[in-house]
Amino acid sequence: MSVVKSSVLALAMLAAAPVFAAVTINIDAAKPGAVINKNVYGQFAEHLGTGVYEGMWVGPKSDIPNTRGWRNDVVGALKELHVPLVRWPGGCFADVYHWRDGIGPQDKRPHNVRSNGSVEEINAVGTHEFFDLIDMLGADAYINGNVGTGSVQEMSDWVEYMTADGGSPLARLRAQNGREKPFKVAYFGIGNELWGCGGNMKPEYYAGLYNNYWTFLRAPEQHKPKMIAAGGDISWTDVLSRDLKDRTTGISIHQYTVPTGNWNIKGKTLGFEEGEWISTLAAASKMDQIIKDHVAVLDKNDPEKKIGLMIDEWGTWYDDADTSSSALFQQNSLRDALVAALSFHIFHEHADRVPLTTIAQMVNVLQAMILTDKEKMVLTPTYYTFQMYVPFQDAKSLPLAIKDNTSYTLGTTTIPGVSASAARAKDGKLYLALVNTDPSKAVDVAVDVAGTKVKGAAGKVLTSAAMDAHNTFQNPQVIKPAAFSARAAGGKLSIKVPAKAVMVVALEE
Ligand code: AHR
Repeated sequence: MSVVKSSVLALAMLAAAPVFAAVTINIDAAKPGAVINKNVYGQFAEHLGTGVYEGMWVGPKSDIPNTRGWRNDVVGALKELHVPLVRWPGGCFADVYHWRDGIGPQDKRPHNVRSNGSVEEINAVGTHEFFDLIDMLGADAYINGNVGTGSVQEMSDWVEYMTADGGSPLARLRAQNGREKPFKVAYFGIGNELWGCGGNMKPEYYAGLYNNYWTFLRAPEQHKPKMIAAGGDISWTDVLSRDLKDRTTGISIHQYTVPTGNWNIKGKTLGFEEGEWISTLAAASKMDQIIKDHVAVLDKNDPEKKIGLMIDEWGTWYDDADTSSSALFQQNSLRDALVAALSFHIFHEHADRVPLTTIAQMVNVLQAMILTDKEKMVLTPTYYTFQMYVPFQDAKSLPLAIKDNTSYTLGTTTIPGVSASAARAKDGKLYLALVNTDPSKAVDVAVDVAGTKVKGAAGKVLTSAAMDAHNTFQNPQVIKPAAFSARAAGGKLSIKVPAKAVMVVALEE
């Protein structure tokens, strides 16, 4: 049976699954809330495993079609996501990266080792190559500097190299290396995970260091990056938001979703039981409380809301991610698509305090958009979720209430059956995103927009028969979005959301 036929059949079977009517979603389109910053849909690309080399960069001489070394297939697929921002070069790698190793003729650049001491870093991708990539993507740069093994001078020089106008010796060096105009560094992060791989510091110590680094990161006014402090738990947010004040535009936190909640036995990537389906979605939903806790501290120390909470690493992390060479390659299934969608709904709710997130990571590492194996490339369910949510970038969030929500229970765990988010997009349309967390029951959702008679809905739905449905290099089209539409009847719009599904529709007003 062809893949197309089998997915049509699977959808037909899902439509025939038991349906529980009752859920009503009320949207108040007349009271738009905060704008969902497009950078909430940011990506993270670290020199880790095949995340950059092989996954994206193959070099100009490769047989794999490329543009100045960057894979055409991967760049083409990423463009469809309208990637707004890319964080680079780490992660833990940022705190062992010396930017001078990555400039000048590629064949003269030193080879050294990454943080775990066993993986060679060839430095073929450096500052100029990274900006070439993000120019192709039309994205902004979020550069992460080295506090752990670097110096104030080295970081100060890097910022000058990237942002200075003609008069500076480092701007002249940049021009010699092929780039006359300054690069646009939208965000600059001062270190990464200083509580751990970045140096095992205490927040008070890092706050002192941050202020010292910040003082010497000089850039012409019109090219000044927004600075991000590397945070940690609540105590870090507290200390940093008190001590850095106007010297930071954001404090980062990292929040990974681990199915079991236990980092020693995290849980399976594929072939998991329903228990790990619900525990993963429950774990992902904790993001809401985590953001609330950090925001409460920010509201205390920064009532003017000048400091953003930057969630610059998030996503799933499973056991069988390949740790043999710190590669962290992992498959990605329908469950990951739901984790991404639930996370987006939470980020939208906190749009006033969360202006930026970067999922870990863009290609071949952890919860990736794209997996590659030599010349082959496969798009993951997470990729499709990002694609379906593009209209939410820079959209105005809309208040929404879910009445009579279903709940999904397994054993002692219960989570809401339906999660939803609505926004008025830049194209003027009203978009509604829906997630049905229940893996076996479809749900009917009545949609009510205050003051408007909604005539219909049209968009995409992502689902499959299996909880761990995923695309492989042999079978790359197992799971992908299908078209969806519904018409109002008797003045009421009802949407049937299949079991274990993500849906994004534009409402016809
Ligand atoms: O994303 C993988 C790693 O996880 C990053 O390098 C580090 O910052 C985090 O611990």
